[in-house]
Amino acid sequence: MNKKVLVATAKPFAKQAVDKIKKICKDKHLELILKEKYTEQKDLINAVKDVDALIVRSDKVTSEVIGNAENLKIIVRAGAGYDNLDCEAASGKNIICMNTPGQNSNAVAELAFGLMLYLARGKFNGKSGRELKGKTLGIHAYGHVGVNIARIAKGFDMKILAYDPYVDNSKMEKDGVTPVENAIELYEKCDYTSLHLPSIPATQKSVNYDLIKLMPKGAALVNTARKEVVCEDSLLKIFAERDDLKYASDIAPDKAEEFIEKFGDRVYFTPKKMGAQTLEANVNAGVAALNQIVSYFENGDITYQVNK
Ligand code: 3PG
Repeated sequence: MNKKVLVATAKPFAKQAVDKIKKICKDKHLELILKEKYTEQKDLINAVKDVDALIVRSDKVTSEVIGNAENLKIIVRAGAGYDNLDCEAASGKNIICMNTPGQNSNAVAELAFGLMLYLARGKFNGKSGRELKGKTLGIHAYGHVGVNIARIAKGFDMKILAYDPYVDNSKMEKDGVTPVENAIELYEKCDYTSLHLPSIPATQKSVNYDLIKLMPKGAALVNTARKEVVCEDSLLKIFAERDDLKYASDIAPDKAEEFIEKFGDRVYFTPKKMGAQTLEANVNAGVAALNQIVSYFENGDITYQVNK
């Protein structure tokens, strides 16, 4: 195909995923440029100059990156959330942006349960904790991760509620999930609320004081979505007012130090974003990203385009 594909991952894929990517590139006569564990944004800006396609994870594809790309036709975010891509800048240069929906969602859902268990067991502090069985779980946004959350929650014998104005109630009901009318009902009724909202202007800081204050005694909020969707000041305020709430997040909030200093026994933040950091998710998302690029170059397939 005589095209150049740049895989730029500050947080690299597992070796097995990279091996599969290398093989597909070889079979399809694509030139692979691997830029792993880079630390400076200028490395990405320089590397993108003459490539035809770009695969990233949470790497920031800014207007500067896009502006420096002379041949770029397609960017694939190997993962779900594409808040790291400047889609407007890409559209301005007729560059297609895609994500790989569903490919890493089981990994994220499993981590959410790891976080729930960790909180339920008092961060493994040796004291008596609580069980998930019989508790009510709220799924805030019912996309691919939400569906996996529901599947796993059934095994824990939890009662499952979900709120998502963009998903038909019938779909949730088919999955054994009770849809609720609004976020208020979700936060009021659930012992565990798991966040799966994308980070877009409408959702940023939307998990705020008015919602969190509704959570029942001893409830826990688990965030494997984006730190931006939670209003950190609200959370700090309500944690100061109530000593029963817990919070775990995959990636530290901006005010992590303050949370840890004041409420260290009931918050937990992963040291790095861990949700999709599994061999399986890396293989699924990395290979899907490359296959989508191949399919675009071979057949013009734009099924997963997000900047329409
Ligand atoms: C996603 O949006 O797919 C997840 O947050 C995974 O992000 P990562 O590829 O940076 O781990």
